Amino acid sequence: MISMKIFSGTSNRPLAEKIAKALNLNLSEIELHIFPDGEKRVRILDKVVDQHTVVVQPTSTPADQNYMELFFIVDALKRSGAKSVTAVVPYLGYQRQDHIFREGEGVSLEVVRRTLEAVGVNRLIGFDFHTIRVPELFKIPVSHLTALPLFTEKIKKERWTGDDTMLIAPDKGGIRRIKILSDMLNGMPYGSINKSRDLATGEVTAEKIDVEKGIKKRALIVDDLISSGGTIVTATNLLLKKGVHDIYVFTTHPVFSDAACEVLQKSAAHKVYATDTIYVPPQKEFRKLRTLSVARMVAKEIKTPWI
Ligand code: R5P
Repeated sequence: MISMKIFSGTSNRPLAEKIAKALNLNLSEIELHIFPDGEKRVRILDKVVDQHTVVVQPTSTPADQNYMELFFIVDALKRSGAKSVTAVVPYLGYQRQDHIFREGEGVSLEVVRRTLEAVGVNRLIGFDFHTIRVPELFKIPVSHLTALPLFTEKIKKERWTGDDTMLIAPDKGGIRRIKILSDMLNGMPYGSINKSRDLATGEVTAEKIDVEKGIKKRALIVDDLISSGGTIVTATNLLLKKGVHDIYVFTTHPVFSDAACEVLQKSAAHKVYATDTIYVPPQKEFRKLRTLSVARMVAKEIKTPWI
């Protein structure tokens, strides 16, 4: 039995339970009271003096509330005598705001980093950060895990490994990830789409696909996250125009805002594979969605010595 206590916030308890199970632990209990005005009070119900502790809390929608809850849990653990706090934040909210895009903006990710460190997080574990710069922004150790091994496993299992298949990054920002995946799949051909987004309206457009070895019959689109679904739909429509009809989508973070689920269900993609870094409630599930769990990878990382 590992000497540590693992806790869950409310944003993804099913994942926290799976991680605890993979560690042969039970989740320790937190009392969470919500006042009529929406403010939360957190109380740790287990003894944590001199214990290493872990909190699982992706900061997906509603990001602000989930962050506040995480801050309060970490603070309560520290005040209760925990030796260390590892924050497992499989989806790190605000990570896309990592620099100033337009004059007058702030850098939200920097605010998040400072607050996580200030409340006492000693180590952060996350998945497929939007930018590889995230670990170097933090002063605490950060484990940057990736869902690519899960995608590789699935692609091999489905035998989508022949000459007829290509990997597609739906924008230039995804090329690094797609190249790594291509290497993991023995050099599978890959390509990328020239996407542009209107920063004021959010509208996504794309006209061109750059492929290294010609267009293939099957396309596996890989993206770090799906929010509105606009990027994926633009990519699938462009692929259809190029004569590609056998399309599958792989994404680490199912952010699924607005009408994303309907949009994806109606898209030309046959299936959408997403991990459980973010909890997808039953009312958001759609027929084409398949879930791959990151729980075992997180459990392995938690057990890796870091001090
Ligand atoms: C963009 O750089 C990201 O990698 C995703 O492609 C994007 O954030 C997805 O957003 P949406 O689903 O709203 O197009």
